[in-house]
Amino acid sequence: MCGIIGYVGEKKSRSYILEGLKKLEYRGYDSAGIVCIDEKHKQFSFQKEAGGVSLLKKLSEKVTFDGSVGMGHTRWATHGVVDKKNAHPQFNSDKSIAIVHNGIVEGYEDLREELIKAKHAFESSTDTEVIAHLFDELVQEQPTLKLAIMSLVKKLEGAFALVVMMEQYPDQLIVIRRRSPLVVGIGENEHFVASDFIAFSDKTKDVVFLPDTSFAIVTKNNIDLFDFDGKPLEVISQKVKEEYTQTDKQGFEHYMLKEIYEQKRAITRSISFCKVIGNSSSSCQSDETSEPFSRYKEEYNDCIWRQLGITPKQVKNLKSVNLIAAGTSWHAARVAQFFFESFCKIPARVYLASEFLYMPFFNQEDSVYILISQSGETADTLQALRLINAQDVPTIALTNVASSTIVREAGGFLPMQAGPEISVASTKAFSTQLSILYWLANRIALEKGLISALDMHDSEEDLFIAAEILETVIESYKLKITHELAEQYSKYSRFIFLGRNISYPFALEAALKLKEISYIFSQCYPAGELKHGPIALIDEYTPVVLFSTLDKIVYQKIVSNAQEVKARKGHLLVFAFEGQKELINIADTAFIIPKVKPLLGPLAMTGLMQFFVYHITCKLGRPIDKPRNLAKSVTVE
Ligand code: M6R
Repeated sequence: MCGIIGYVGEKKSRSYILEGLKKLEYRGYDSAGIVCIDEKHKQFSFQKEAGGVSLLKKLSEKVTFDGSVGMGHTRWATHGVVDKKNAHPQFNSDKSIAIVHNGIVEGYEDLREELIKAKHAFESSTDTEVIAHLFDELVQEQPTLKLAIMSLVKKLEGAFALVVMMEQYPDQLIVIRRRSPLVVGIGENEHFVASDFIAFSDKTKDVVFLPDTSFAIVTKNNIDLFDFDGKPLEVISQKVKEEYTQTDKQGFEHYMLKEIYEQKRAITRSISFCKVIGNSSSSCQSDETSEPFSRYKEEYNDCIWRQLGITPKQVKNLKSVNLIAAGTSWHAARVAQFFFESFCKIPARVYLASEFLYMPFFNQEDSVYILISQSGETADTLQALRLINAQDVPTIALTNVASSTIVREAGGFLPMQAGPEISVASTKAFSTQLSILYWLANRIALEKGLISALDMHDSEEDLFIAAEILETVIESYKLKITHELAEQYSKYSRFIFLGRNISYPFALEAALKLKEISYIFSQCYPAGELKHGPIALIDEYTPVVLFSTLDKIVYQKIVSNAQEVKARKGHLLVFAFEGQKELINIADTAFIIPKVKPLLGPLAMTGLMQFFVYHITCKLGRPIDKPRNLAKSVTVE
């Protein structure tokens, strides 16, 4: 993972690097570092610290170094513990080569052993330091810098985005990428480099997205770009329209709480957008031969199918849908499976991106792959996308970040309009994903002639109603949770979560939310599985959180599962819907949610579930927005 940033130009680089690193902290916040080259002595000055960018910034107030060439790094530890030594930049032996790195070098142990035999002394446990020492050797061996870089990339396995500074070449940055993204921003007599455009979005909108397996030598006025075989590549610049709005907490104690409260608006905005592009299907009718979706769009398409990079004919013929994602987005996909199967009457398969990569690929005719990622930068999901793209099957990205890698690489994309999600725990992205996928399942069903335009309209209205309920139900329980329940439930050290049918993947999401921010052990099962083993865990010290559904038959089974828990003196907390008396009466604690359309039950429960988990965590005093060991964007496999 990790965020990397660089500058070469006429100005001083330090403040830009520190500001940019702050914006990249969503990629990791274990430790941070900065290096600049001193113009007069042509020597590196650097500082690195264990801890976030704010700490680095604070400690660097006492330091005076700066320079017109510099780079920085914010780390999510992969190799080696979180400490100063393992922070980046990493150096070669005489500290004349500095490297910042995002990604993982596979098989780096062998390289390290060889280098140790050749008398290289290592200071850290990182794979990055191996690159610095190896590059040092190659620079000495090869007649030119370009050949040394070409030789380096041949020896490195795995994914990497690297920025390299050399005292020998004090006026340039070397940028190298395989799979992990890198972007160069073009300014006046200056170039910016970063793993994400947002790092310099306030400086320039003119960018060059480095192609995969390429490297560039960047000076203040020039970019020399090459593929890994050394063939010169055309430098294609483009304008990014996206604005990075650095939001503050607007009075909320944490971003997570703010984002929980932003959900109604995020859903309404997203569905209103979908309605606009979804209604102008007439302009799609003749698009059998239309240009495929352009890779980086400045404006959204006026037609849903062009936007998604598929034709109406392909939609009509769809025989299956595949959904691929990780973490919370995977949970959204699992809930959405019910939408596609129910409205479109076709099988929907859901894959964990990290597993999909190592499963056999069966090319299905008349199918589409939808890749769901809030950030659009999750390495597992991107790798899955690349694998599918190689099979020439339609791919659609559903993401919250229009300038992300997934948008550039997928056949088409559907933007979420959730606004920036800062807290590591995904909240509004989840509910927006659910809403858009519900809408999309309906829109496909309409195209296939399975539902009428009126049904489509009703589904859109149902989404607005569910969004409203998501918010109002929080208000109904706000006092009870903050004054009583959060305290009560924060005392338990483990939880069991249960759901059935559509509420099972939702229970998975609830369990993930609790464990990732509170560090309370939470295990989730399909309620029907309880009797096959997990029931042995039931006792009065392990609350069972059970999520109901609005399906009448499934509900009856859920009541039986609730009784099984109570018969063993388990403590039962239920999320039930209005009128579900049997369940409400048997529970020790019951949250009662107004009824919505059955498949929108999870969406209606989302806000309250998150709010409850948030307040349990507040009682425990955890760093809610940046839980330990995590990062917002998981850019390593
Ligand atoms: O950006 P993505 O949606 O691809 O991220 C996937 C997961 O890393 C993410 O949902 C993660 O599970 C969240 N921290 C959960 O709150």
